[in-house]
Amino acid sequence: MSDVVRLEYRNVTMRFVDGTGNSLVAVQQVCLSVRDGEVVSLIGPSGCGKSTLLNIGSGLTAPSEGEAFIDGERVEGPNAHVAFMLQKDLLLPWRTILQNVMFGVEIQGIPLPERERRAKTLLDTLNLGEFGNHYPHQLSGGMRQRVALARTLAVDPTVLLLDEPFSAVDAQTRIVLQRELAQTLKRSGKTALLITHDLLEAVTLSDRVLVMSRRPGRIIDEIAVDLPQRDDPIARRQDPRVNQYVSRLMERLDIGHTPAERAAGAQA
Ligand SMILES: Nc1ncnc2c1ncn2[C@@H]1O[C@H](COP(=O)(O)OP(=O)(O)OP(=O)(O)O)[C@@H](O)[C@H]1O
Ligand SMILES: [Mg+2]
Repeated sequence: MSDVVRLEYRNVTMRFVDGTGNSLVAVQQVCLSVRDGEVVSLIGPSGCGKSTLLNIGSGLTAPSEGEAFIDGERVEGPNAHVAFMLQKDLLLPWRTILQNVMFGVEIQGIPLPERERRAKTLLDTLNLGEFGNHYPHQLSGGMRQRVALARTLAVDPTVLLLDEPFSAVDAQTRIVLQRELAQTLKRSGKTALLITHDLLEAVTLSDRVLVMSRRPGRIIDEIAVDLPQRDDPIARRQDPRVNQYVSRLMERLDIGHTPAERAAGAQA
């Protein structure tokens, strides 16, 4: 890890027009930065603007106010140094799994044998080695999600933006994939912003966790995860300090209180 900032949001605000024609502030004045080699998780209630932020970082959406930067350059559209995995990542149904994984790499001008080698290695790593010649509809939801992750990693970007990459996989597979991702990130020294609803996932995979408020989403807390072995989330799970971090995040997110209790708390 170095002090070089790879990903930065400066005062990002995003407004949308809702179904009734009213303006809705999805995220408000968000500032955040992720340093080289750092893995940062972003957590927050549903609808607080996490995916919106990720879309802005990937260049798919322009913010209403403020700016996002990758390697000091303002994001103005999709950028070869960033790979993203969207919450609803679609595979191209007419392409095989192997061709889907190679998709992002095609525009980079890498020769076909090298592209294929990379894609096959990734599919093997994600336990999909036998499915290279299958089509997306022949795979389960969790398998398709793994293909989407392989496609993101195949691009070999400096910055990875991952929106709930494991939300559709079963609990056991999720643990295996978390370890695969953690090892890949550590080995390659990549920088990542990871959106998740799974607090344990956030703590075991990250160097820092950022907490967002309800809409309009703002960053209300930041926790530095001071634990060893970021490349081994399974080992981290055994560390009793993990529970302390998770408890603090639950508190910050106000989990465990009914809306009425929350309102009473706010008045007190
Ligand atoms: N294209 C759009 N047009 C209008 N409103 C939008 C659009 N995209 C997002 N929103 C609204 O912005 C808010 C934030 O949405 P976003 O998808 O970023 O939330 P999220 O934090 O990712 O939620 P979740 O955890 O459920 O995925 C929501 O109220 C959503 O309805
Ligand atoms: Mg989302």
